[in-house]
Amino acid sequence: MAISIEKAANTDLGQIQAIDRMTFGSDSRKAFLADSVANGRCLVARDGDTVTGFGILEQTFYGQGFIGLLVVHPEWRRRGIATALIRRMESGCPTRKLFTSANESNVPAQKTYEACGFVRSGYIENLDEGDPEIIYFKRLGKTREVGDEHGYVRKRA
Ligand SMILES: CC(C)(COP(=O)(O)OP(=O)(O)OC[C@H]1O[C@@H](n2cnc3c(N)ncnc32)[C@H](O)[C@@H]1OP(=O)(O)O)[C@@H](O)C(=O)NCCC(=O)NCCS
Repeated sequence: MAISIEKAANTDLGQIQAIDRMTFGSDSRKAFLADSVANGRCLVARDGDTVTGFGILEQTFYGQGFIGLLVVHPEWRRRGIATALIRRMESGCPTRKLFTSANESNVPAQKTYEACGFVRSGYIENLDEGDPEIIYFKRLGKTREVGDEHGYVRKRA
């Protein structure tokens, strides 16, 4: 299956919000998702016109790159879509260190990040009661693409 990864367009927002709602059972992130798309921080995976997953890359974690959200439509999981999104976020990350996190109870997310070469880097308690947030870290290579306002095109040594 060819996985196409692109920066999300405003026209993708409805599908992104629907995937988020069906996964987490709430609309609480609606404004955050709209803001992320509007500010070019959201990537989507597509199959034709269908959005099959999305990922949001921020730089809000002590100034370091941080995958704030990564969600694949339930019907499209275990086909490498999250892996493809992670790879693209790695190549677009403006910092040499990339962090993300997963709840202790979220084994699929932990396995996904570990399969992509992330290692554990501590944890934070008291975010979700009784379910610590495991921090993951990956040191990025020396040569990669750096994101700019037009997409993920510029190479940096
Ligand atoms: C976590 C998530 C994004 C993974 O998406 P995905 O597209 O299914 O992941 P991939 O197909 O790229 O999986 C890559 C590898 O990760 C591991 N993996 C992924 N899901 C797994 C699972 N449920 N159980 C065990 N290993 C898993 C496997 O090694 C897999 O490779 P394989 O399928 O060849 O064995 C998806 O399950 C999801 O959207 N979950 C709900 C949202 C969420 O928890 N997001 C993360 C925190 S924001």
